[in-house]
Amino acid sequence: MANEKQFKLKTKFVSTRGVKEYRESISEWVNKDDVVLEIGCEWGTTTVQIAPQCKEVIGTDISRVCIERARQRHPDIRFEILDAFDVRAALDIDKQFTKIYIDMSGLSGYRSLLDVISLLTMYATVFRPDAIIVKSGALKHFASNCIPWRSRETHRKPTD
Ligand SMILES: C[S@@+](CC[C@H](N)C(=O)[O-])C[C@H]1O[C@@H](n2cnc3c(N)ncnc32)[C@H](O)[C@@H]1O
Repeated sequence: MANEKQFKLKTKFVSTRGVKEYRESISEWVNKDDVVLEIGCEWGTTTVQIAPQCKEVIGTDISRVCIERARQRHPDIRFEILDAFDVRAALDIDKQFTKIYIDMSGLSGYRSLLDVISLLTMYATVFRPDAIIVKSGALKHFASNCIPWRSRETHRKPTD
């Protein structure tokens, strides 16, 4: 049964719509001490933008072709083949990631919302990063319609 002592994630989930917003978030969310994982890096176009803002970045993608091309284009950045759903393989990279970027094909629509949420929860639980930034218009829309309920009792000052 849930109670006050149960484990609560502290990771912030940042949802972006489209690649422009996804990349715009870098200047706001990535800082020089961060070790960043990008999931779904394709040819490394975003990974290369993250690199100068942080301590270390690793770009990953399920596609061997994409990773080989990313390595050719950006030999100074580390790229690895990774299926995002294989979190054990992500752990084998053996880094304490502080920020995670996710841009995977197939995660944009509303029908994939549960997959997005389970992926975010899985990476937040295992790596405990400060934030996960995900490209998902569906999650952004859903989150913008969510209001965390706060009862008046919680806000009442002792003098009230
Ligand atoms: C839209 S592209 C990424 C673009 C890239 N982030 C950028 O900013 O240029 C989506 C990528 O997700 C990758 N992908 C799809 N399913 C994946 C999975 N299960 N694990 C990791 N990557 C996946 C695809 O191979 C593709 O390269």
